[in-house]
Formats: sequence, C-alpha cells, structure tokens
Amino acid sequence: MTRLFHISDIHFGLEDPRALAWLVDCVAREKPDAIALTGDLTMRARHREFAAACRWISALPVPVTVEVGNHDLPYFNPIERFFDPYRRFRAIEHVVERPLDLPGIAVIPLKTTARAQWRFNWSKGHVGKGALADCLAQIDALPPGTRALVACHHPLVEAGTKGNALTRNGSRALAELARRGVAAVLSGHVHDAFDLIHPTPEGPVRMIGAGTLSLRTRSTPPSFNDLRIDGADIHVTVRNLEAVPTPAMQIEDVPENALPPRQPGEPVAPVGAVPEVDPPVH
Ligand SMILES: [Fe+2]
Ligand SMILES: [Fe+2]
Repeated sequence: MTRLFHISDIHFGLEDPRALAWLVDCVAREKPDAIALTGDLTMRARHREFAAACRWISALPVPVTVEVGNHDLPYFNPIERFFDPYRRFRAIEHVVERPLDLPGIAVIPLKTTARAQWRFNWSKGHVGKGALADCLAQIDALPPGTRALVACHHPLVEAGTKGNALTRNGSRALAELARRGVAAVLSGHVHDAFDLIHPTPEGPVRMIGAGTLSLRTRSTPPSFNDLRIDGADIHVTVRNLEAVPTPAMQIEDVPENALPPRQPGEPVAPVGAVPEVDPPVH
C-alpha cells in the first residue's frame, strides 16, 4: 500500500501555524511515502512568503511534489507577472521538489494558472494547449500498468456552471484524462475537500480536492487528505484539526465561485491590480 498526503493552499502570509505544526507532526509520526502539494504556497507571491514556504517544505522529512497556484504569481508587480510569472515559483520548486519513488504510481503535473486572461477574474484556472499536451505526453510515456495521479491547482470542472467556468478548457482536459484512465485528478484552490466521480464524454474520472492549511478557511476547518492507494483502490480520509468526520468535511459540488472570503488584515488589491471577485457569503 502507498500512502500519500495530499495538502494544498498553505498560503504563507496567511498561514495557520497550528495547522502547519499539526501536519508536520502527522508526517513525522506516520511517515507517508510522499506529499503532493497542489498550489497556493503563498498569499501574494512575496519573496518573504516564498522563503517561509520554502523553509517549511524543505524541512518535511519525506519527498514533496509542488504545483503552482494562482496566488503564486506576482501580484504587486504586473510587469513581472506578464513577462516572467513563474520565476519566483520555479526558484523554490527547484529547491524543494524531490523525485517521488512510488511503486507503480506516478504523480503528473498539469498547470492550470495563467499570467493573464481575457476575463475579469484572473484567479480562475486555465488549461493551455501546451500545458495539456505536456501532461498527456507524460502520461502516455508511463510504463504500462503505472497508475497516474494528475496534480493541478484548480479543479478542472464544477457543477452547474454555464459559460464562465472556474477553469477554462477544464472539461476538455478532464475528458482527455478520463480517456487515458487516470486514477484521479488531485487539486486545491477551493479550500474545502471533495472526492467526486465526474462524468465526461470519455467516461467517468475521479476528482479529489484537498482543503487548506491556512487561515483562509471557507466552510470547513484546516485539513489535508490522507490517501491510501492499494492497487486500483484509493481510499481518502480527510484529516482535520477539529476531528470532524470525513463525510462532513467533503463538499458535494465544486462551486463556480470558489474563492474563500477575505480575512481581517488581508491585503487589498493595489492600484492597477486586477481585483478578485468576492464570493457570496456561505
Ligand atoms: Fe488558495
Ligand atoms: Fe487558488
């Protein structure tokens, strides 16, 4: 059996020290085979936030793989955001990421962030042609029998959306992944956990979302997913700080507007920045 801790949205800058210490404790005690971190390492991609995230991730005693989230692209510097948006993330990815050695399992990245989009809310996801092609090529190159877990930041689809989807081109990407029989798509961003089977024209595909370990909780306490992978079976337990049972931690639909509410003291958008849209109060 392979044990993978799926964590997300640690948001250094608004991190929850109690949640992070608890995760470190769980890792030290239970020694999972690896950790998959599905993006939003920082709050506003500040250098000091990346440095703190880098220190925390580097100290974890098991291999970690990291994805980029929408909060990891420069926020206060539109020029850097446009011309070199992944520089800060890549620098820490280079330091913290270690190859995973999971028998018969591969974690394959799929980038869902965009430096700019022709729509108001840039916090939403976008699967570019190149990003999808990279991901599919990696899946196609796996040795026969290897189970692929695709790791991305934004959930690829949500329920009930018409037109302005949370992740542009997400449905198409999800169908391609279903066609290749991926074991699951792991994501973050919505700050609540879920474990859903989603139908696509190419067949059903499993979508697993992890909650947050930051102060930016949405409707459930800080949490992470504990995945036990045994052959074709993936068992997900949502572990949380308040001992809420897993079914009560999992949302049933990925909402269209998945942004968590602003926290007191959270920075507001600088002049010239593209603001996020605040969600309805839940
Ligand atoms: Fe987030
Ligand atoms: Fe996000």
